[in-house]
Amino acid sequence: MAVTVFILNGPNLNLLGQRETAIYGDVTLADIEAQCAEAAKRLDLSVDFRQTNHEGELIDWLHEAGRVASGVVINPGAYTHTSIALHDAIRALSVPVIELHLSNIFARESFRHHSYVSPSATGIICGLGAQGYTLALEAIQPMASAAGT
Ligand code: DQA
Repeated sequence: MAVTVFILNGPNLNLLGQRETAIYGDVTLADIEAQCAEAAKRLDLSVDFRQTNHEGELIDWLHEAGRVASGVVINPGAYTHTSIALHDAIRALSVPVIELHLSNIFARESFRHHSYVSPSATGIICGLGAQGYTLALEAIQPMASAAGT
């Protein structure tokens, strides 16, 4: 049976395709969602793809993932660099969590070089654009299957 993986996207990622296209490219979040659905079919995963501009909603979804999912891929957007609450929520999970960024945060402004999420994450993918989402699903598939919901 397909295990469930949450793919959570944080603030401003709803603007992909219009926002800073020199950095993030022309791809929209809907394109990424479609790409994830295709990868999920191939990997026999059930994916739940979401986006919010609100920190508390991300926290609630992480709690929900702890109850109903076997893994999480999260692009926390700018909350990566500010949110101890996200750090704590991920730390409370026993399922694998992959932190994902479209851009290479280490090649950008220095305020993006620190992530509160990374010390809590199982692994990190950054700088590979939309392809990172497919890579994250490929990486989490065996871990989520072993975790098992
Ligand atoms: C981002 C990188 C963050 O620094 C930024 O605030 C974002 C997007 C990325 O996907 O590259 O909103 O998470």
